[in-house]
Amino acid sequence: MDNVQATVSLTETLCLEVRAPSCGIVIFGASGDLTARKLLPSLFSLFTRGLLPENFFVLGYARTPLGTDGFREQARKALREKFHPPDDELAEFCKLLHYLPGDYADAALYAELSRNLRKLDADYDAGGRLVFYLSTPPKVYDTVVARLADAGLLHEPDGGRGWRRVVVEKPFGHDLESARALDERLHRHLQERQIYRIDHYLGKETVQNVLMLRFANTVFEPVWNRHYVDHVQITAAEDIGIEHRAGYYDGTGLLRDMFQNHMLQLLCLVAMEPPAAFDADSLRDEKLKLLRSVRPLAADDVRKQVVRAQYTGGRIGDKDVAGYRQEKNIPDDSLTETLAAAEFFIDNWRWRGVPFYLRSGKRMHRRLTEIAVVFKRVPHSIFTPIAAPDLQPDMLVMNVQPHEGMALSLQAKQPGPKLCLGTLEMAMNYRDLFAGEQPDAYERLLLDIMLGDQTLFVRHDNVEMEWRILAPILDDWRKEDAEGHTGLKFYPAGSWGPPEVAELMTGNGRTWHNPPPGRRR
Ligand code: BG6
Repeated sequence: MDNVQATVSLTETLCLEVRAPSCGIVIFGASGDLTARKLLPSLFSLFTRGLLPENFFVLGYARTPLGTDGFREQARKALREKFHPPDDELAEFCKLLHYLPGDYADAALYAELSRNLRKLDADYDAGGRLVFYLSTPPKVYDTVVARLADAGLLHEPDGGRGWRRVVVEKPFGHDLESARALDERLHRHLQERQIYRIDHYLGKETVQNVLMLRFANTVFEPVWNRHYVDHVQITAAEDIGIEHRAGYYDGTGLLRDMFQNHMLQLLCLVAMEPPAAFDADSLRDEKLKLLRSVRPLAADDVRKQVVRAQYTGGRIGDKDVAGYRQEKNIPDDSLTETLAAAEFFIDNWRWRGVPFYLRSGKRMHRRLTEIAVVFKRVPHSIFTPIAAPDLQPDMLVMNVQPHEGMALSLQAKQPGPKLCLGTLEMAMNYRDLFAGEQPDAYERLLLDIMLGDQTLFVRHDNVEMEWRILAPILDDWRKEDAEGHTGLKFYPAGSWGPPEVAELMTGNGRTWHNPPPGRRR
């Protein structure tokens, strides 16, 4: 019965899109990896879909001594590799790109930047609207924002029509204190409505769909609570290691890299109350309420409810891979965690007593990000001799990646003269349903920045609450390590983590949903 599939199609489509107003975007760190891998491809994709503003330009700013020609050449190369576009389309797009080399701290260069922007704004008729995208190491955020302010570039001209917006990438601080300090410094020059904190998970199609599924339907809401839900699992497993990011990753670790943002945001979407409207503040108010209801962990709970681990050498698919401590530029006694799993409780009327299990790790068995809502078993079985505990619980899986879609598994009769029950899975897959590539998360997010919609961006009080939830865990780990009795566990690359991750659940008679690689759900 496992392969029975339902037919799904989307018939009537209601769209909320409006075109973004004319503007320009300044990318700080334009010669870097994020610009080539995400920002330029997403802007190009918006361009080919006709979703960029009518008048639009990009000004790249970085220390690398490139000229506009050099920047366009880099862009052409990256876009050709990714999209194989027709030459004339690529040429049209590249005409929008410009470049200015400069040091992030050099005040004189901001004067030059200001002159360049005045000219570009006039040439492209961009209406004095500017996005400053900080694709730089976080340690220069302060400097860039302060210099922009000193050069008068954050001042919004023309009674609010010509706006200025600043985009920052995570990490938003290293802990509660540094996150607060960063915000305080940003707020010296900017209002909260001008700050766009990116959590790229919120731009993913399937993540946005959690909201549609919950709040554009009535069928799930009556069962979305402690009366019907046994527990919820949120998994973000990666098969890749730390790649070339040793400098950032070691000492940062998985909890800060994935839990502080993506994992807690997924938790918010699946567990928060319905907002009164789909707008930035209504949504972020509800998320804040939810984050505030997450039960704080005491030091004793951390030991029982949180697992941290690091990968050792192993095998992923048909490749042998090195352990974390053998990766380039990682100390051979590093205690940085590359996997974390935790059991959280939400103390409110809807969720009291329902465990939320979160796990994320590098070099795990397969790439898989999903939210699984596991329902309670039936209270009594009428199908004797099958007892109620023998019937599998129903489960709704929202698969974020790589096989974007969702599946509802139910108990059903297997066809035949005998009375046999099995699990039937009603599944839908975005790629089957909507031909072609799914838009990258950055497309949605870039568009929203230009539209001035902060719904999918993280507000400062949400960031602060996320750090508050993690603070006891980080404190306890720091203490353990300092006292020389680290609780760090180890797992072979290519596994689902050390046994303690499974034991978080088996102690309570539950198991993780671990579909094998290649399986679409
Ligand atoms: C980033 C983390 O925010 O998300 C990376 O810094 C991680 O360590 C990445 O690999 C995962 O993103 P995605 O979109 O590939 O799931």
